[in-house]
Amino acid sequence: MITKGFFLPHLPKHLAIIMDGNGRWAQKRHLPRVMGHQKGVESVRSVVEECRSLGIPYLTLYAFSSENWGRPAEEVSSLMELLARYLSKELSTLLTQKIRLNVIGEIERLPKNICDILTEIATRTQENSTMVLTLALSYGSRNELLRACRTLAQEAIDGTCSPKEIDEKLFASRLDTAGIPDPDFLIRTSGEMRISNFLLWQMAYAELYFCPTYWPDFNKEALQTALSEFSQRKRRFGLTAEQLKQNETDQHGGSAH
Ligand code: IPE
Ligand code: IPE
Ligand code: MG
Repeated sequence: MITKGFFLPHLPKHLAIIMDGNGRWAQKRHLPRVMGHQKGVESVRSVVEECRSLGIPYLTLYAFSSENWGRPAEEVSSLMELLARYLSKELSTLLTQKIRLNVIGEIERLPKNICDILTEIATRTQENSTMVLTLALSYGSRNELLRACRTLAQEAIDGTCSPKEIDEKLFASRLDTAGIPDPDFLIRTSGEMRISNFLLWQMAYAELYFCPTYWPDFNKEALQTALSEFSQRKRRFGLTAEQLKQNETDQHGGSAH
C-alpha cells in the first residue's frame, strides 16, 4: 500500500479516465447494474479529491458516451437521476475545494434539469483555479470532430477564416476541449483495452494505462499505482532518446522525462 506522503517527480498535467466496469461490478455481486453506477460515484469522489490534493491541474472523466444513449431506457434514466443527484450534492465541495467544472459533449441532448444544473455549476465555479474537472457527457469524439469541421466550414463560407489558415492550433480551438491541454495520461478501468470514441484527436500522444479493476473498486491506491507507472514512462514524441536527453540538458541541465 502506498502511504499518505505519496510523492512522484512527474505527474500528468491532464489525466483522462474511462470509468468502466460498473455493470460487471454489480453483476458479479448479483446486484442490478444501477448499484454499480451508484458505487462508482464514490470512486469519482475519491479520485477527484486525490487528484486535487496531488496537484493534478486537469482531470477529465468519461461519464456517458454518445453510444450509451442506446442502452436500455431504464438504465439511461437511472444514470441521469444519479448524475442529477451527484451534481446537486457536489456544488458545495467544488466551491470549497476551488475546482472548476467544465463539460464536453452534446449537453443539449441531456434532460433539461441536468443542463440547467451543469450551466449553474459551471458559472458558479468558473473563477476556480485549483483544478479543472471536465465531465464528458453525451460525448463522442467523432461527433466532436464533425462539429468542429462544420464550425470551420461555416466560418470559411462566412469569410471569417480561410481554409489555408486551418492548422492544428486553429482546429483544436474549435473542439469542445478548447483551452484545455491534451491529456498526457489515460486510465481505463475494467480490463477493456480500447478507446471507445474518447478524445481521439487530443489523445495523439497520451500514455495509455489499462487496469483490470472495475471502476467501483478503483480507489486512491489504485490511482497512485497508475500514476507511479506514468512517472516511469519515457515519452519521446517521435524523437530519439539521445535528442531528448540533449534537449533536457540544454533547457535545464537536469534529468530527462
Ligand atoms: C461504465 O460502466 C459506466 C458507463 C458507461 C455509463 P459500464 O456500465 O459500462 O459497466 P460494464 O462495462 O457494463 O461493466
Ligand atoms: C465507455 O464505456 C464510456 C464510458 C465509460 C462513459 P462503455 O462501456 O460504454 O464502452 P464499450 O461499449 O465497452 O466500448
Ligand atoms: Mg462498459
